[in-house]
Amino acid sequence: MTSMLGWIFLLALLLCAVADAQQSFFPASIPLAVRSPHFSVWYDSHLGAAPLSSSWPNFWSGAIIGWAGRMRVDGVTYSWMGSDQIWNNTATVVSTQITPTRSIFVMQAGPMNVTVTFLSPIEPSDWVNQSIPFSYVSVEAQSLDGAAHDVQVYSDISSELVTGIRPSGGNGGDPVSWQSNRTAQALYHETEPVTLRQYTEVSNQAQDGRGYYAMALSPSLTWEIDTDVNCRHQFLNSGNMTNTQVAAFGPMGKPWYVFAIAMDLGNIQSTSSPVTWAIGYVRDPVVPYTTSSGATEVRRPYWTTRYSDISALIDAFVVDYPAAHDRAVAFDEKVMGDAAKVSPQYVDLISLVTRQVMAALDITVLGGSGSNGQTTDVKAFMRDTGSSTRVNPVETMFAAFPTYLYLNASLGGALLAPLLESQDNLSGQPYAAQDIGGNYPNATGTRGAHQQGIEQSGNMLIMMYAHARVSGDGSLLSTHYDTAKRWADYLVNNTLTPLNQDSADGLTNPNMTNLAIKGIIGVKAMAEISRATQHDSDAQQYDSRATALAGSWLSLAESSDQQHLLGQYGDQSSAAMLYNIYADLLLDTALVPQDILAKQTQYYNSLLQTDASPLGLYIDKVLGNTASSAWTLFTAATVTDDGVRNQLVQYAWDRASFNKTSGQFPDVYNDATGAISSSRGGNAGSALGAMFAPLALTMPNTTITADGGSPLNPSPSGGVPIGNNGSNGSNGRTNVGAIVGGVVGGAAFLGILAGVGIFFWRRRRQQASASNYHYKEDLLEHPHPYQYEAAYEQEYQPNRYTDTNTGRADAATRTSPTDAPYTSPYPVSSKARERAREMEQRYPQSPSGTTNPTTPVAPSSEMISSGSEASSGGLDANTVSTTDLLGLRTEVENLRRVMQGIREERLDPPPLYGN
Ligand SMILES: *[C@@H]1O[C@H](CO)[C@@H](O)[C@H](O)[C@H]1NC(C)=O
Ligand SMILES: *[C@@H]1O[C@H](CO)[C@@H](O)[C@H](O)[C@H]1NC(C)=O
Ligand SMILES: *[C@@H]1O[C@H](CO)[C@@H](O)[C@H](O)[C@H]1NC(C)=O
Ligand SMILES: *[C@@H]1O[C@H](CO)[C@@H](O)[C@H](O)[C@H]1NC(C)=O
Ligand SMILES: *[C@@H]1O[C@H](CO)[C@@H](O)[C@H](O)[C@H]1NC(C)=O
Ligand SMILES: *[C@@H]1O[C@H](CO)[C@@H](O)[C@H](O)[C@H]1NC(C)=O
Ligand SMILES: *[C@@H]1O[C@H](CO)[C@@H](O)[C@H](O)[C@H]1NC(C)=O
Repeated sequence: MTSMLGWIFLLALLLCAVADAQQSFFPASIPLAVRSPHFSVWYDSHLGAAPLSSSWPNFWSGAIIGWAGRMRVDGVTYSWMGSDQIWNNTATVVSTQITPTRSIFVMQAGPMNVTVTFLSPIEPSDWVNQSIPFSYVSVEAQSLDGAAHDVQVYSDISSELVTGIRPSGGNGGDPVSWQSNRTAQALYHETEPVTLRQYTEVSNQAQDGRGYYAMALSPSLTWEIDTDVNCRHQFLNSGNMTNTQVAAFGPMGKPWYVFAIAMDLGNIQSTSSPVTWAIGYVRDPVVPYTTSSGATEVRRPYWTTRYSDISALIDAFVVDYPAAHDRAVAFDEKVMGDAAKVSPQYVDLISLVTRQVMAALDITVLGGSGSNGQTTDVKAFMRDTGSSTRVNPVETMFAAFPTYLYLNASLGGALLAPLLESQDNLSGQPYAAQDIGGNYPNATGTRGAHQQGIEQSGNMLIMMYAHARVSGDGSLLSTHYDTAKRWADYLVNNTLTPLNQDSADGLTNPNMTNLAIKGIIGVKAMAEISRATQHDSDAQQYDSRATALAGSWLSLAESSDQQHLLGQYGDQSSAAMLYNIYADLLLDTALVPQDILAKQTQYYNSLLQTDASPLGLYIDKVLGNTASSAWTLFTAATVTDDGVRNQLVQYAWDRASFNKTSGQFPDVYNDATGAISSSRGGNAGSALGAMFAPLALTMPNTTITADGGSPLNPSPSGGVPIGNNGSNGSNGRTNVGAIVGGVVGGAAFLGILAGVGIFFWRRRRQQASASNYHYKEDLLEHPHPYQYEAAYEQEYQPNRYTDTNTGRADAATRTSPTDAPYTSPYPVSSKARERAREMEQRYPQSPSGTTNPTTPVAPSSEMISSGSEASSGGLDANTVSTTDLLGLRTEVENLRRVMQGIREERLDPPPLYGN
């Protein structure tokens, strides 16, 4: 009986916690289809933005992606996505839920309760599935009045998915082509730029890929390719599409051709299964990689090891939806359950960032088909999205590494491999490179001297050993032993008293405590690397070096009262988050004594009360209001007190749910205003992988096998047991039953319940203690949910859009689709869309021709400028101006976003925000 009550109590706590999380987390941008560096579509949900049912999705950097969704109920057409106003009404968004793999919008469309689920699969143990650049959007509906209704659903996508060249002035956008085709199982539309420009980007969008929109074949499926106005009217008026396509190609925009797929569900009370579209953006090859011998390898996506062509890929992906959905639910439960052991806010952070961290990667193989999933040369490439276009940026990888360690450590090995191979012959440079190229996807190689020798050598050694000890794969350690040793020797000589060294945070002052300890942990990592590869005398030597260095470091780093650690040796007024100590815990190298960590924890606790701003605590006092979500979470994982840890997590959460400005949850930002750093924002990128820092500490150590097969064979996994643990899934498919059983079954589920219960209680306690932080309440209003009142609905009543606006025949009486795309006048009907596009042209993102590369970026006192790279002196002029340009581009983009916000407020009646 008591245990029964206990269960009910725990269940109630769980429900409260979940409901609580749902009601309080309102990030400014929500992932919709986020799968690869060049396939990253979001919903801009900042305060004041329209609901999804009357918004266009955006590419991560802001450009509109014309992607529309409709549902027709008893002849009345409701919009669930898009803002063209070719509808009778918009669906009312009731709730939004974010899980690691899914964004779920519950809406009401007349008498139907509609659930729209955007699922971007995360399959860390199946690299074929992980590398498939497709996402799902699915619609389910139930009648709210118990009666059956006639229901049709519709969605389309434009070519904005495949090119960054938008219409400008009187000119159309990039010429694009399209076609419809069928596979054995699916109907699909394909679109691409008429001229594929290999390995180039415009406004962050690749110019060498093909876009897809697909659905499993069924008798009630209809489709059409025509202008947005024609297709959407066709659906509005008849509920069925014409199964025809117009014009093989045209400019992207003016008019806007769209690729539509609709389903007539008939007279139903509820959908028997979700109506599911598959949206994809495919590049192949993905990365040209310059080897150390100077040859260029053409790297293909990993999925090509199983699927020989696009039809096979689409067939498999479309048919897999029910199983993929089950796997996603199991993944989410496992990850969210683990995260709930920290705090409810932590569950939100993890849920928001996981898709983008996995999507930062292109997992590649050499060659391609015919190998039936077997491959021995896997390399992963990361784009420094949100900050720059660098390839495998080492400090960003370091921030992201906890995610890969937790999900599948072998991913970390695949990322390290190209960096290590590139540097084996670079004996002239004693320290590690910062990246292998400045312009993704061109992995052209290392780029010469720089000032981040301690930073990047430390990062590389720490990641090498972390990957090996979690995955058990020591092959990279033995293959690149001499390279690692070269870096370790450099650290031994230089790391104790850093001079003329930059940190990746843009700090240049001498004797940085945090930078020095990173290098020392790097030396200790080398000792472990030596031990794992049977270099016993090296191991002893680095061990004693590291111990001596750590002792000296401690005496230099401590404050004069020995109560905490300084930001800079001897400077009693200095203060910093010593986030690099995280690596000492991650590697279990125990260089920093426990009592020092305990004192430092109390010090952070006092800093949070004296020095924190509404949205966080600085990385280093020298940097003013510059805070980093990533380093906040690294720091949170080092403290010895859960209350202090949860306060740090809370600050990251406060920024994640800060929605008064648009843009994705950033890494580096201003902790007073929330403004995203122009050079290191990391928004939509992988630095936010640092959110997994506490979880990565739970990964067990395994025995490192030095000759773990080929250096690039990722077969050992060492990740969290999701999917077919222990491999990249190349030999088979995931056993869903086993996962669900394993995750939900018995003890694990009990553990989750208990965990949530305990942490819900902790949160309460924390909220009570948060009364110390009254100023936060005063300065910062809490994020608001959207509340759509009847008055708002009124504005979108039927006939707001009228055909008299279009200047073209009503779709119902149209006899044949237009075949003159270039000459048809752009219909006035899509006025809102057109104005949005004009605004976009006025505030373009592309640097080419629109911004002056010589214009300096105005350094802003509280934000890091792009100077850290520019002043390093080692990078060529090209790089420097690119960096400046990037900053400028981002600032222009921020301005554009502000303008867009203003525009939206003008065009659309403002939502009413209750409180
Ligand atoms: C829906 O909108 C269309 C086009 O404006 C209009 O013809 C139709 O009458 C509307 N239907 C309803 C039920 O309001
Ligand atoms: C609508 O559907 C969602 C998802 O299935 C469900 O959670 C919710 O309770 C439903 N709402 C109503 C009013 O039935
Ligand atoms: C349609 O797909 C088939 C293979 O599934 C292919 O042979 C054919 O060329 C495609 N049609 C077009 C027009 O590309
Ligand atoms: C990558 O290299 C190719 C070939 O040299 C070039 O055309 C392309 O512009 C480069 N891409 C970027 C992003 O710089
Ligand atoms: C769509 O077409 C099918 C087949 O012709 C027909 O049975 C169905 O009633 C049509 N749906 C609507 C909404 O007109
Ligand atoms: C380290 O310093 C020692 C002594 O000054 C010197 O002999 C050695 O070459 C240095 N090694 C590196 C890698 O700089
Ligand atoms: C760095 O710290 C060391 C040890 O305290 C000191 O000798 C040296 O002068 C400091 N360097 C600078 C540039 O302050």
